[in-house]
Amino acid sequence: MIVSPSLLSADFGNLQRDVEMLNNSQADWLHIDVMDGVFVPNISFGFPVLEYIQKYAKKPLDVHLMIVEPQKFVNEVKACGAEYMTVHYEACTHLDRVVNQIKDAGMKAGVSLNPHTPISVLEEIITEVDLVLLMSVNPGFGNQKFIPYSVDKVRKLKELITKTGSKALIEVDGGVNMETGKLLADAGADAVVAGSFVFKSENPAATIANLKTL
Ligand code: DX5
Ligand code: ZN
Repeated sequence: MIVSPSLLSADFGNLQRDVEMLNNSQADWLHIDVMDGVFVPNISFGFPVLEYIQKYAKKPLDVHLMIVEPQKFVNEVKACGAEYMTVHYEACTHLDRVVNQIKDAGMKAGVSLNPHTPISVLEEIITEVDLVLLMSVNPGFGNQKFIPYSVDKVRKLKELITKTGSKALIEVDGGVNMETGKLLADAGADAVVAGSFVFKSENPAATIANLKTL
């Protein structure tokens, strides 16, 4: 399993320390949640903070934009060293255009779906994207309860990817722990995001190592 710990649950007073902990752990990617208080009912952090994450991080940055009009920020996200730039389906009127802008800028393009958004909206675009980020909580906050029907969405997405020959990875975000992670792994997830489960644990590096075994 690809493991992408979410810095939303890190200690922002000791961000460098937490990023270095992730550098020395088995984490594959660093998940970075940008929120604007419009697309989601919360504000997290923006580009000045991402610049510092980039400065210290030695792993690929998996940037999840929970903002309206994400197409306006493709260059800024690229400048922050993102490997994956993931935008919400629900925030993009012209999703095909945004996906191409992200790829033209030299990043991998991710599309995220809110819990209630069906997999079928990806039928046409699935062969164009590098990653699908399925939200297994309503985005905006860490430490929420996993929505059980997300497991079925992973199965449906896996079917669509297999049927179309898409190379997209399936990543799941929200309420991931060893129990929900096992259900997601069995359903076909390639990657999991984990925020509170990692950072609120006694030994975050050991928790990441456990998630790697899923
Ligand atoms: C929620 C964010 C998540 C969040 C996950 O809107 O997209 O990445 O950090 O937190 P946990 O793992 O605590 O549910
Ligand atoms: Zn996220």
